[in-house]
Amino acid sequence: MLLTRDGQVAELSREELLARLDTSRLPRHVAIIMDGNGRWAANRGLPRVAGHKKGMETVREIVTASSKLGIKALTLYAFSLENWKRPRLEVEALMSLLTLYLQNELKLMQENNIKFTTIGRTDDLPGAARKWIDKVKAETAGNTGMVLDIALSYGGRWEIMEAAKKYGADLLAGRVSPQGLTEEAFSGYLDTAGLPELDLVIRTSGEMRISNFLLWQTAYAELYFTDSLWPDFGERELIAALVDYQGRERRFGRTGEQLGAVNGNGAMEGGGHAV
Ligand code: FPP
Repeated sequence: MLLTRDGQVAELSREELLARLDTSRLPRHVAIIMDGNGRWAANRGLPRVAGHKKGMETVREIVTASSKLGIKALTLYAFSLENWKRPRLEVEALMSLLTLYLQNELKLMQENNIKFTTIGRTDDLPGAARKWIDKVKAETAGNTGMVLDIALSYGGRWEIMEAAKKYGADLLAGRVSPQGLTEEAFSGYLDTAGLPELDLVIRTSGEMRISNFLLWQTAYAELYFTDSLWPDFGERELIAALVDYQGRERRFGRTGEQLGAVNGNGAMEGGGHAV
């Protein structure tokens, strides 16, 4: 099953879901398109920013739960390159919330051994946000638990283009040769270099799009869509997504019979690029 909604596990409680989760076969890298803050607020007659504030609380819950479950990397799509086109006041509010989040959560990251990183054009961000990004990155750089990776001023096509430019510069300088270019080598030029292979992408709010998120990295990822709006998403639903993921057959181009000889349905070592 490639594209699925959360039908099979939607009715189960957190405890029932946990009992079905095999923590030895977790996705290594989970990425989330956090969508639906505006609709959550509109449904309550509140300004959009109220939805983003509640969404920030969900970020805390999901970061804590992911880290405790043992996920190696979590990438959150917090602000796309396209989001700069939103009304100025909403953009400013999102930047303030990001700064507030970093100020408040540094302690939680340290307590949970979380390493903070970002992907995207963070130079575009206002000074206060940049200052806190640098501070939290520096202070958590030595942590060895989950990597919390936040996509800020990020676009998937932009990331691939930037990687191509960096590769071109290395080529012109004679540091690399065209024959040496492999998928793995090119991945090293992306913002996500060093993170584990992406296994699962979750998108909330019922939209079924990738929206220019991790275009290269989604090549073999499983996709999980839920109707829940991001502020309503929580630990129970995260576990539901993980259980659903574990129920899928990840074939990486192989046949089902061949897979039996590899490693069942879990994440495949070495990135699973075999076809
Ligand atoms: C999409 O919902 C959400 C965003 C563009 C921003 C996400 C921001 C947060 C979750 C809060 C702050 C984040 C961090 C990391 C501290 P939308 O506004 O497009 O919702 P809509 O489609 O219902 O209008």
